Amino acid sequence: MSKLEILTYSPRETRKVARCLAQYVDAGSVIILKGELGAGKTEFVRGFADYFGIKGVRSPSFTIINVFEDEETKLYHIDFFRIKYSEEVFLSGFFDLLEDKEAIKLIEWPEVVENFLPSETIKIEIEIIGKTKRKIKIELGDENIIKKHKRCYSIQNS
Ligand SMILES: Nc1ncnc2c1ncn2[C@@H]1O[C@H](COP(=O)(O)OP(=O)(O)OP(=O)(O)O)[C@@H](O)[C@H]1O
Ligand SMILES: [Mg+2]
Repeated sequence: MSKLEILTYSPRETRKVARCLAQYVDAGSVIILKGELGAGKTEFVRGFADYFGIKGVRSPSFTIINVFEDEETKLYHIDFFRIKYSEEVFLSGFFDLLEDKEAIKLIEWPEVVENFLPSETIKIEIEIIGKTKRKIKIELGDENIIKKHKRCYSIQNS
């Protein structure tokens, strides 16, 4: 597992971190986002989707699953905040879309499904450090992605 830790000081910077990651992940990837309420998980998804030109990402707490699709990209934004039992996950249809190898799946509050996810799942953890300061940890298997991400992020900030 390769790891990366980045401090951000605004929602915009968090979106930038996500946009850099979006460039390098494969179709079919599963990405989980952990962190307390208001940490910036949805903000991260917003930045990620923005790379593909997808707008309109918002907290899907009531719908659980939001689908974004155009000719080139398919993205599932999933939020299990309101799901307390794994039975409900089965009913939500989540496992069918997990099989969709064309789509990238971004999952907020993934704890209820963590045991069922592929081993190559990309892990994002966002920690609230201050009012607008966040620590973002990215953990994934492919070290090359981390290298490319570092380059991308430093270019965007220079
Ligand atoms: N550095 C930062 N990165 C991300 N968000 C930030 C940052 N600083 C301030 N914020 C604010 O924190 C909030 C993050 O909200 P967001 O909905 O993304 O959190 P969340 O982790 O998805 O919460 P929830 O668990 O309720 O879904 C936004 O209001 C955003 O403007
Ligand atoms: Mg959210």
